[in-house]
Amino acid sequence: AFDIGKLRDQTGYVTLDSGYKNTGATKSAITFLDGEEGILRYRGYPIEQLAERSNFLEVAYLLIYGSLPTQTELDNFAHQITTHTLVHEDVRKIFDGFPSAAHPMGILSSLICSLTAFYPKSLDPNQSPEETNLNIIRLIAKISTIAAWSYKNSVGHPLNYPRNDLDYCSNFLYMMFAFPTEKYEINPVVVSALNKLLILHADHEQNCSTSTVRLVGSANASLYGSVSAGVNALWGPLHGGANQEVMEMLEAIQQDGGNTQKWVDKAKDKNDSFRLMGFGHRVYKNFDPRAKIIKKAADDVLKALGIDDPLLKIAQELEQAALTDPYFVERKLYPNVDFYSGIIYRAIGIPTEMFTVLFAMGRLPGWIAQWKEMRENKEPIGRPRQIYTGELERDYVGIEQR
Ligand code: ACO
Repeated sequence: AFDIGKLRDQTGYVTLDSGYKNTGATKSAITFLDGEEGILRYRGYPIEQLAERSNFLEVAYLLIYGSLPTQTELDNFAHQITTHTLVHEDVRKIFDGFPSAAHPMGILSSLICSLTAFYPKSLDPNQSPEETNLNIIRLIAKISTIAAWSYKNSVGHPLNYPRNDLDYCSNFLYMMFAFPTEKYEINPVVVSALNKLLILHADHEQNCSTSTVRLVGSANASLYGSVSAGVNALWGPLHGGANQEVMEMLEAIQQDGGNTQKWVDKAKDKNDSFRLMGFGHRVYKNFDPRAKIIKKAADDVLKALGIDDPLLKIAQELEQAALTDPYFVERKLYPNVDFYSGIIYRAIGIPTEMFTVLFAMGRLPGWIAQWKEMRENKEPIGRPRQIYTGELERDYVGIEQR
């Protein structure tokens, strides 16, 4: 019989906190988050100010190096990133190996990991800070090329090479949407919305993918290997995959006749595993401060582009139902950032399968900052314990006697 006393004698006492709802895994000076009050700050700066006044590369610098850059520092940082956006030509051969139906998140994680092959010095745990910094720059630069190419590959269009005369977000939009046969105009409203979205996603303390990056990195795995693991964690529908699921859910509701109440009831039904995608958050129990900012940005983009999207009406009805229905109110299930980000992505022409890739591009500086902090603080390898509930001890029985 199972003897808990004997087990404790063997293993000692451990704390069980499934899903780490109340367990701090590290000390960190990067992102402050107060879920009850709905506060999010990067390095002390409120997310609202950064989304309004900064741009993605400046926020990336802030997260990774700890303070806002001077103009010279920012120019240098942006210049270095711009000059590393090309990927090795052999990377194109890897693209060719993927079937066109491959999900771009799978391509992204594979290709980020493949960078270890092109930059083997990144594998050295004792690499110099300069080498680490070079890999940081490479990763931020190349993720936009890999992301845009994964889309072009999926639709069978020719790949666009990065353009050094464009800023980070404009260059990404160019690589995504330009055709050799057409003149491509970059819309500043779209560039501004993309900057905001990437800023809002740039870090979120010890979430699932960031904890993954830190845990993998704690084994002295390379930056590329650690971030590649983070991409896979983000791919999960309960984490970064939610914005794709939001859009698919809105489309399903539309195809089902647009009866939002039916779907709200489905989400409340405890015999049905369906959940309203884009609602609820593990940490924000009153509201998601990013959702407020992004809701406004979504309104601005739709207005500026003159888009009248029927899915938006369904989204608004769902939002209304969730804000008034006692089930959602009692459980504090508010729309989260994913609920609105999908609407913007759709408005600017990003295909649904690419939503989570955009999330990964935004989250990259956070992953890098957390990986770097973990290394600089010389944190020990992460190694959680367990409460063992299996057989305590039994003798092996030969197969003929079973
Ligand atoms: N729809 C319907 N009911 C829900 C939802 C939802 N979206 N979210 C939570 N609930 C219910 C649960 O069934 C549970 O009900 P009960 O108390 O009657 O059992 C209660 O609310 C609490 O839910 P938990 O799963 O315990 O909450 P937790 O904090 O662990 O989960 C999570 C948070 C995973 C985000 C959850 O709300 C969810 O699945 N949401 C939908 C997916 C989503 O939007 N994910 C994006 C997360 S944000 C991000 O990654 C940026």
